[in-house]
Amino acid sequence: MEKEKLIIFDTTLRDGEQAPGFSMTVEEKLTMAKQLEKLGVDVIEAGFAAASEGDFEAVRRVADEIKDSTVCSLARALHSDIERAGEALANAERKRIHTFIATSPIHMKYKLKMTPDQVLEKAVDAVQFAQYFTDDVEFSAEDAFRSEREFLYRIFEAVIAAGAKTINVPDTVGYAIPEEFGQLIADIKNNVPNIDKAVISVHCHNDLGLAVANSLSAVKNGARQVHATINGIGERAGNAAMEEVVMAIKVRHDYFKNVYTDINTKEIYKTSRLLCRITGSFVQPNKAIVGDNAFAHEAGIHQHGMLAHRETYEIMKAEDVGVPSSKIVLGKHSGRHAFKTRLEELGYTNLSEEEIDNLFAKFKSLADKKKEVFDEDIEALILDEIFQSEEAAKLKYYHVISGNTVLTSATVKLEKHGEEILANGYGDGPVDSAMRAIEKALGVKTRLKDFSIRALSSGKDAMGEVRVMVDFDGITTSGKGISTDIIEAALKAYIEAFNRYTARKKFLENRIDEGI
Ligand code: KIV
Ligand code: ZN
Repeated sequence: MEKEKLIIFDTTLRDGEQAPGFSMTVEEKLTMAKQLEKLGVDVIEAGFAAASEGDFEAVRRVADEIKDSTVCSLARALHSDIERAGEALANAERKRIHTFIATSPIHMKYKLKMTPDQVLEKAVDAVQFAQYFTDDVEFSAEDAFRSEREFLYRIFEAVIAAGAKTINVPDTVGYAIPEEFGQLIADIKNNVPNIDKAVISVHCHNDLGLAVANSLSAVKNGARQVHATINGIGERAGNAAMEEVVMAIKVRHDYFKNVYTDINTKEIYKTSRLLCRITGSFVQPNKAIVGDNAFAHEAGIHQHGMLAHRETYEIMKAEDVGVPSSKIVLGKHSGRHAFKTRLEELGYTNLSEEEIDNLFAKFKSLADKKKEVFDEDIEALILDEIFQSEEAAKLKYYHVISGNTVLTSATVKLEKHGEEILANGYGDGPVDSAMRAIEKALGVKTRLKDFSIRALSSGKDAMGEVRVMVDFDGITTSGKGISTDIIEAALKAYIEAFNRYTARKKFLENRIDEGI
C-alpha cells in the first residue's frame, strides 16, 4: 500500500498565540516561523491579518521571509477580512487563505444570528472571493462537531464545488470522544459527494484532554491534514500538540500504516524550547515528548532494565526528537572555536559572526562564575542574546540589603527607552523588595500570580531560572530570568513580563474580538 502524506498545519502563531500569556510580537513570530520552517511544517498559520495592524504585520513579515512552508492567514467569511489576508500574503512564495464561519445551531442562532442557508451562502461567497488572491483556499466549519450532519455535508459539498482545496472539521469546544470524532470523518468521506476533490483536515481543542487522540482517530478514518500547535498551546486548554501527533504517527507506523509526515523530528525539542523562551511559559515536566522527564528513568528497576536492553522501557530515543544527549560542555579554558562547534552541535548554525562574538564574551564571563557550562546554560545565553534587542526595559544595576535583623530593602536602576531610572522598595524579603522597587521604577501596579524557581543545571554554582506570571491591569504575561543569582533572575523575569505586557498592549490596541 502506498503511503499518503499527512499535512501538518501549524497554528501556534494564530490559535496558540490567541491564548492568554502566549502573545508574541512580530519579531518573535518571525523567529518562531523560521524554526517551524526548519522543523518542516507544511503550513504555517501566521495570524489573523484583519484582527489588528500588529497581526497584519506579523503575517506580512512571515509571508515575506518563509520560503519552504505555505504561509496562511485566517479570515472570517467577510470580503474585508479576506482582502486583508490577501494583502498580507501578497509576497508569499506559497500562500493559503483559511476562511471560516460557524455551522452549529447554537453558533448560528446566538452568535451569527443567521439561518443555515445564509451561512452556506456566505461560506460559498468567501471561498470564491478568496480565490482572487490564491488558489489554495481552506474552509473551516467552526464548531463542526456540534453541527447537524446533513447541514455539514451540504456546506462542505458547496464550498468544494466553489473551489476550496481543504475542508477543515474543528472540534472548537473540545467536546468529542475519539471514536465519535473518527466516525464523523468517515461519515464526511462517505456522504459528501465531491470529497475526493479536497483534503479533509481536523482542528481539535483539548478541553477534555482528547485533542491528540481525536486528531489521530480522524487520521485513521481518512483525515490527511491535522491542525496542531507546539507544546499544545491554544485557546483555553489548547490545541492538539504537534510533537505528540507527529511522534505517534512515527513510533506507531505499524498502526498508522498508510501515512507519514515530513516533519524533521530532530528539530522538535529545539522548537518547543524556543516557544517556551519566547512566551515565558513552560511545559510540565511529565509532558509527553518534550517534558524534562519524558526520557528520564528514575526507578531502579527501570534503570536496570534500560541498561540490560534499552527497549525494555523506551519506545523512542531522546535523539529522535533532538534532546541533546551530552550535558557537560565547556569551561573557562574553552576557546571560541570549541564554543562555535558546540553551538553548531546544538543546532544554532545560522548565527552571524558578530552574534557569536557577543555570545562568546557572555560565555566567558559565565564560565568565570561557573566551573562547568552546560548545554542549557548556553541555550539560555543564546536566547537572551536573540531577544535582547526586543527589550523595552533593561536591568542596569541592583542592590539588596537583607538579613534577619534589618528591614529588607532593594535599589534598582533600569534603562527604559534610553533613560535611566533609579527606584527603591521595601518588602518581605529580598525578592519582594526588589519587585516593589521595579514596580516603582516602571510606574505600574502589578499582581504577582505565580512565582517559581528551579536549578537549570547541576552543581552548587548552577544557573537558577525564575519564572513569574504577573497581572498588569488585567493583562497577564509571563517572564523568565536566568542567572547564577536568584534575585537577579527574579528581576530579569519581572522585567521580561513587563516588556511582554507593553508589547501585548500595543498589539491588542484595535484588535477585533468578534468571531475569533
Ligand atoms: O477552534 C476553531 O474552530 C478555530 C477555527 C477558526 C478553525 O480555531
Ligand atoms: Zn481553534
